[in-house]
Amino acid sequence: MEIIRVKDAAAGGKKAFEIIQQAMKDGIHTLGLATGSTPITLYQEMTNSDLDFSNMTSVNLDEYVGLGGEDKQSYRYFMNENLFNQKPFKETFVPNGKAEDLQAECQRYDDVIATHPIDIQILGIGRNGHIGFNEPGTPLDSKTSVVNLTESTIEANKRFFDKVEDVPTKAVSMGIGSILQGKKMVLMAYGEDKADAIKGMVDGPVTTHLPASALQNHADVVVIVDDAAASKL
Ligand code: PGA
Repeated sequence: MEIIRVKDAAAGGKKAFEIIQQAMKDGIHTLGLATGSTPITLYQEMTNSDLDFSNMTSVNLDEYVGLGGEDKQSYRYFMNENLFNQKPFKETFVPNGKAEDLQAECQRYDDVIATHPIDIQILGIGRNGHIGFNEPGTPLDSKTSVVNLTESTIEANKRFFDKVEDVPTKAVSMGIGSILQGKKMVLMAYGEDKADAIKGMVDGPVTTHLPASALQNHADVVVIVDDAAASKL
């Protein structure tokens, strides 16, 4: 893993943007994208840039079960607001959290990943070491599936909802194995509450207890961290 230390989230967004910019010059087609607070500075860099994404495809990591694109807390809505409305892509994929047959939706999404191989996968990390919504205990070769969110994740994400009872308890998430198929991983983490997860991911054993530790088995991983997130390394 290549660890890049930055001053703050703004600098981290710039770094991640530079990686994407260079890779687009080199001819990549597909970005794996993430939601949450972490990638926002990257999306700001992308929207403020003069880069043209209209030949690019994006594949997002996950979506809450039960929420659709019209729901303000859905990840489809988040992506439209933070990136796609300002910078149109050729095609954008986000799991359909309102699919009637969720198992079929998971299969469809793995087919999307297979037919649109991800060149750069953008990742955040949960306080418990999750990537996507793959919580501790998830097999490290998992495919896209319907996952139950842990209490700590629901607690962390309740800030986006009126009340904690409104936070969905399930999501459709790319699996750890699906994520690792991407050619290059760019994981960003800012703030002290990510320090334990970063320490475990970088220095700990590869274990289902800390899903992000599976990244140790990937050949091309860049980790962008501020001093607080790197404080236990
Ligand atoms: P955050 O979430 O960027 O909102 O901290 C990251 C994650 O849970 O993967």
